Amino acid sequence: MMRLSPLATVVLSCLVSAVCARPAGAELGVPIEVPFEEAREWSFVGPLGRYDQVQLRRGFQVYMETCGSCHSLRQVAYRNLSALGIGFGPEDIKALAAEYKVQDGPDESGKMFMRPATPADRLVPPYPNKEAARVANNGMYPPDLSLIAKARKGGPHFLRDFLVGYGAPPEGVEVRPGMYYNAAVSGLQTGMPPVLTDGLVQYEDGTKATVEQMAKDVTAFLVWTADPHMQERKAMGFKVVIFLALLTIMFVALKREVWAHLHRAPRAEGEGVSSNSVPVSPSRAP
Ligand code: HEC
Repeated sequence: MMRLSPLATVVLSCLVSAVCARPAGAELGVPIEVPFEEAREWSFVGPLGRYDQVQLRRGFQVYMETCGSCHSLRQVAYRNLSALGIGFGPEDIKALAAEYKVQDGPDESGKMFMRPATPADRLVPPYPNKEAARVANNGMYPPDLSLIAKARKGGPHFLRDFLVGYGAPPEGVEVRPGMYYNAAVSGLQTGMPPVLTDGLVQYEDGTKATVEQMAKDVTAFLVWTADPHMQERKAMGFKVVIFLALLTIMFVALKREVWAHLHRAPRAEGEGVSSNSVPVSPSRAP
């Protein structure tokens, strides 16, 4: 086995630790902080983490049947949903989009008009503007959820904890009128009512729709909306790291070869001449 110089060993071990030792949650760009539960297992965390497509589909169902009545997902177009796999082919997406209406125009007479949404349109929001959303929600604005998994400290951990964090307020915690106790938020109260209840949705794959399950599924879906190209990025990063590691090994081998003659014992007179000791022939000199 080839022995590596100390420098090469350091470079290689840095590369290896960059791939293997990244803590869970770090690639989501959020600090790891689990407010009141231990760290969770997510399929998408880690250098080789991948989205569980079946879970994303369940999460999308929870979003559409629950969250989507108050929150928007303005960064996601219907056609992006093709990433969710089987059941989201071009025809399915076209049919899904056509169930919603979007404003378009102006037409020849200068008037705006409504038309069915197409796969190129973004998911139609539940309210036409922020003001309408506030009026319908006790003066509080349900934020757009496209990037929420990146925008909140704790990322997926926070989202899951927030969705299961409702309950009766403990002794000494005063909850203002129109607010709800939630253990995951800093002020221990939120303007969002508890929306998840066991059995709220009917999963097609037979998974039991407990609050915990729905919270995790919709969280996975929202991590995907915030970072849909995560898998491609990780795959590319992995290839780059392997390439750099191989390159390092090759350079170390090359360096040893080039410098080898300096480390050899001096040779006997006339026994082979090192290539760089060949004098330049005077006839070739300029
Ligand atoms: C009845 C309307 C309604 C529904 C349904 C609803 N929300 Fe909300 N949500 C709100 C409102 C209003 C707020 C703003 C609360 C505040 O500012 O205190 C909010 C806030 C949030 C926040 C930000 C919390 C924070 O403090 O940072 C997240 C995340 C969130 N909702 C996720 C969801 C998810 C996921 C679903 C579906 C499971 C959902 N919501 C369903 C109304 C709703």
